[in-house]
Amino acid sequence: MADELGELTKRALREIADAKDAAALETVRVRYLGRKDGEITTRVKSLAALPVAERPAAGAALNRAKTDIEAALAERERAMRDQSLAASLGGQAEDLSLPGRPVRLGRLHPISRTIRDVSRIFLGMGFESVEGPEIEWDYYNFEALNIPAGHPARDKFNTLWVAQDASMAVSLARTGTGGSQARGERPARDLGPMLFRTHTSPMQIRTMEQRRPPVRIIVPGRCYRFEATDATHESVFFQYEGLAIDEKLSMADLKGVLYSFARQIFGGERKVRFRPDYFPFTEPSAEIAFDCFACNGSGVTDAGRCATCVGSGWIEAAGCGMVHPDVLRRVGYDPAKYQGFAFGGGVDRLATVLTGTPDIRLFYQNDLRYLESV
Ligand code: FA5
Repeated sequence: MADELGELTKRALREIADAKDAAALETVRVRYLGRKDGEITTRVKSLAALPVAERPAAGAALNRAKTDIEAALAERERAMRDQSLAASLGGQAEDLSLPGRPVRLGRLHPISRTIRDVSRIFLGMGFESVEGPEIEWDYYNFEALNIPAGHPARDKFNTLWVAQDASMAVSLARTGTGGSQARGERPARDLGPMLFRTHTSPMQIRTMEQRRPPVRIIVPGRCYRFEATDATHESVFFQYEGLAIDEKLSMADLKGVLYSFARQIFGGERKVRFRPDYFPFTEPSAEIAFDCFACNGSGVTDAGRCATCVGSGWIEAAGCGMVHPDVLRRVGYDPAKYQGFAFGGGVDRLATVLTGTPDIRLFYQNDLRYLESV
């Protein structure tokens, strides 16, 4: 009986190993352990027919055979389950037991962040934020700001023209491309050709044409200049314009507002230089500069002349001044009654100082490794 059981067990284990799927495995189980006439089951049933003395040994041998077959069946069943899971994963099904991929959080671009910071500070000082068109008329970008055709100040604003030809500009005006002012309130031929605005100052005129004093606005926005790029110059960059018009405003108010702005944005850490400059639309005019963060204002670094400030120790940040009486007259304000100040700063230059970015072009190269580090 022991020999025969040994053979039977071997056969059963071979058949279990050869079973191709769950159904074949079940057939093997029924053949050996099936309750009615499984080979092991029938032998257990026939134990009673054996002489009493032989029963314990035969019973123990049958139990061993049954346990071995049951263990082999369970093992094969588990192997089949693992195999089918592996196959379904290989077929790109989702493995729900894997932890999910972390979601990458976005963040604001340093230029957007700087625009928000600048706007927040000026809003806190009572300025309102407004925006204007990036494609502008010669009139708003130059003429109304005391920069007529042929004025040398035009050379400074390397301009990208949309339409050099006045008749083309007129047809653009008729299609309404120039905004509300161009759609009939003013004869189109007065406005001259169209251009990519070189600064945000045109919004001084557009705002004053539409409002009566007091005026207090800040204008963040994109500007364009046809110029070679370097560490502090881009051909597409951002400015923030400021304009305040009221009775009895003076240069002291301008300085107070700009010093307060510098203290709030830098936390009092950077030096601010305020010195005379020239702009046709402000009189007197001044230039604001911050001491260079890369060389701490010395103009030199370990590598020699500081590349960020080109050795000057200062980063020119904004132009400003008292609004010229002719500009006020042109928009119908009485310069004897109203005065005001204006300023125009570079958002990108400010962002380089705030983030310690040595080259303005890094903001526009879309290298996330850099943008995420500042
Ligand atoms: C102007 O654009 C005047 N509209 C500023 C102004 C406004 C004066 C109101 C008086 C009253 P300027 O060309 O200097 O001025 O430019 C002002 C600032 O814009 C600069 O100080 C600089 O910070 C930034 N800027 C100018 N050109 C570029 C450029 N190519 N790339 C990056 N920033 C620039």
